[in-house]
Amino acid sequence: MTALTLSTAAAAGLRADAIVVGVAKGAEGPVVAPGAEAVDQAYDGRLAAVLETLGASGAEGEVTKLPAPSGFKAPVVVAVGLGAAPEKDETYTAESLRRAAGSAARALAGSKKAVFALPIADAADAGVIGEGALLGAYSFDTYKDNGRNAKGGRSARNGKAPLAEVALLGGKPRDKAYKAAVERAVAVAEELNRARDLINMPPNDLNPAAFAALAQTAAKEHGLKVQVLDEKALAKGGYGGILGVGAGSASAPRLVKLSYTHPKAGKHLALVGKGITYDSGGISLKPAGHNETMKCDMSGAAAVFAAVVTAARLGLEVNVTGWLALAENMPSGSATRPGDVLRMYSGKTVEVLNTDAEGRLVLADALWAASEENPDAIVDVATLTGAMMLALGSRTFGIMANDDAFRTAIHEAAEEVGEESWPMPLPEHLRKGMDSPTADIANMGERMGGGLVAGLFLKEFVGEGITWAHLDIAGPAFNEQAPFGYTPKGGTGSAVRTLVRLAELTAAGDLG
Ligand code: BES
Ligand code: MN
Ligand code: ZN
Repeated sequence: MTALTLSTAAAAGLRADAIVVGVAKGAEGPVVAPGAEAVDQAYDGRLAAVLETLGASGAEGEVTKLPAPSGFKAPVVVAVGLGAAPEKDETYTAESLRRAAGSAARALAGSKKAVFALPIADAADAGVIGEGALLGAYSFDTYKDNGRNAKGGRSARNGKAPLAEVALLGGKPRDKAYKAAVERAVAVAEELNRARDLINMPPNDLNPAAFAALAQTAAKEHGLKVQVLDEKALAKGGYGGILGVGAGSASAPRLVKLSYTHPKAGKHLALVGKGITYDSGGISLKPAGHNETMKCDMSGAAAVFAAVVTAARLGLEVNVTGWLALAENMPSGSATRPGDVLRMYSGKTVEVLNTDAEGRLVLADALWAASEENPDAIVDVATLTGAMMLALGSRTFGIMANDDAFRTAIHEAAEEVGEESWPMPLPEHLRKGMDSPTADIANMGERMGGGLVAGLFLKEFVGEGITWAHLDIAGPAFNEQAPFGYTPKGGTGSAVRTLVRLAELTAAGDLG
């Protein structure tokens, strides 16, 4: 991955391919953001005027490239838009810095080294700029040939290589707080980018067994305890939900438990991820046009995986258990049929009315398993419903919970790390829509409020008295549109940063 360092050298003398400066939208045209004073002076203080002549406004995500002033070792200056300039006595928001750094890093694909001269007021700013740069530089090219094996002598890359090195100017490399902020940014971004890789991996390569094997490798590397239940162990344990969803697939399901423990931990946070490595809908098959991106249906499990590993890398004083509920939802002669009744791990029976409502079935078993350890809180993450996308769009995840204060705390934690989310209710009256004449509950209810219905279903599989929240990331998990800020096309790593923040808050005793 892209390397990240702090530098105190003078901008002019730095050997790099480009120097990144910030430009904001002022009342009377673009203004150069702090951090780029030396660069501006080298243009005789006319950088803002030059940028305006070039058509730059300072709008968020705007990238303008211009030749570096004479005397600079780097050949190019890249001005990146920060959006509206802050009011007097205010500073740039963390998210505007993160996004600008991400846009700049992406625009610099193909370059080796860039120096970022963006506004850094404190250690936290260095952290978010670093995070934005490392996330923005991400590209998924595992399956691009890049000249490795092509016949016919093709040797050029199919795409540009990601920016290899980022040096942040204006920080204090020897200051403890700055060092910690950079270290945190690197850990979060590396694991989040690994989650993106998993989401982008094609489903013929990432099946439940392959995902579980990757978790085992990571567990070894980071000193985590890992337990994998295969189809035999799942049958023995009575995990009817996970088995029922995986029944139609040639690739058997898995339940992975990843445990990070700290000797001084006072709290235990459980994270549960939906890990449908491919969601065809099963016998209730999705029509063409609805299944092309369904490799992303394991984004919740990828986020949980990344968050547990990040907690371990940061050595947080909290116990975090990650549960990955892995299955492939396929139609076949052995698949679960609409009308089948499953006996879940909790002992409840579920009438499957629609095999495409599979996420809640695997999550129900994992939620009950997580509940057996009686953690201080459980948070599940899932690409659960199209209804949540209709409600909140493609950039915002919904938060439901059995505790209002916990839901608010998660909303605030998400906001703090730059993830858009919104609190959603769990209206009790929607429960009766899931009444089944045959079983304890059906896996489908009223169409209206489908995201909330799914949340109400999950709630029934949370142990008595346990604080629980559900994040429906169906919208933001996979970006089908153009990249923006530090968000690439494809897998985004949605919810990773919120989960890491929740682990930090739990460690600090500020949550649950
Ligand atoms: N994985 C889908 C939800 C989804 C849709 C995620 C689009 C990302 C993008 C989920 O398993 C599903 O199919 N849900 C159904 C539930 C319905 C049958 C009750 C839905 O939302 O249509
Ligand atoms: Mn489905
Ligand atoms: Zn699904």
